[in-house]
Amino acid sequence: MHLSTATWQEIEARVKSGKTSIIIPIGSHEQHGPTGLIGTDALCPEIIAKACEAQNDVLIAPTFSVGMAQHHIGFPGSITLRPTTMIAAMVDWTNCLAKAGLTRLYWLNGHGGNVATINAAFSESYVPYSMESKLCPFAHKISNWWDLPEINKFCYDMYPIGHGSHGTASEVAVTYWGYPERAVLGQMVLDPKIAPDGPIRDAVDYRKRFPDGRIGSDPTQATIEQGGQIVAKCITALMQDLAIFEQS
Ligand code: NI
Repeated sequence: MHLSTATWQEIEARVKSGKTSIIIPIGSHEQHGPTGLIGTDALCPEIIAKACEAQNDVLIAPTFSVGMAQHHIGFPGSITLRPTTMIAAMVDWTNCLAKAGLTRLYWLNGHGGNVATINAAFSESYVPYSMESKLCPFAHKISNWWDLPEINKFCYDMYPIGHGSHGTASEVAVTYWGYPERAVLGQMVLDPKIAPDGPIRDAVDYRKRFPDGRIGSDPTQATIEQGGQIVAKCITALMQDLAIFEQS
């Protein structure tokens, strides 16, 4: 079930039947190099969540699609929230969903740069309960899709050279599977073939170090078929991870 295409009565009935978990894809809109889509980090968790929902009885929230990407705004099209804005928005989403009885909030994340802010938002949402010595009625979990059980190894085995850490071969493959009409981008010849590596700082420094936006990757390896294999593997891992969270 998708929250966006459900009715309020369906959500109410679902919660009354004891199903209180919701998967919230969360990502970012930031450049992903010449062959990667700007929405990659939002699209990957969304694609995986939707594919999972097609096979399983899970509830999917709208994608929290703009995250903390200040280091990417030197490239046209990138959008960022300040950490404080993102925390405030996440706390608002949390309070609304929890008020409806959706008290197990599973944030399926697609952007490494979001992790610190997501965890800060969790803490912020718990503060009022801790301060008043009340038991918080909701619980959060963050799960980076590439950190789901066995997925990282699966991706590195698929791309032993040039997987990279931004504009990665695996995330680009997942988006090509989701949007096959964009896979033509992968035919581009990139120079250098494998992008440089280095630290991530501010936006100006980032563009200087990584002129085409990629870090350590050769995403021209990515194919639609490989993306489909990664998504299929993620569905199994996601269902296992969600079940553990629901029982904890
Ligand atoms: Ni990414």
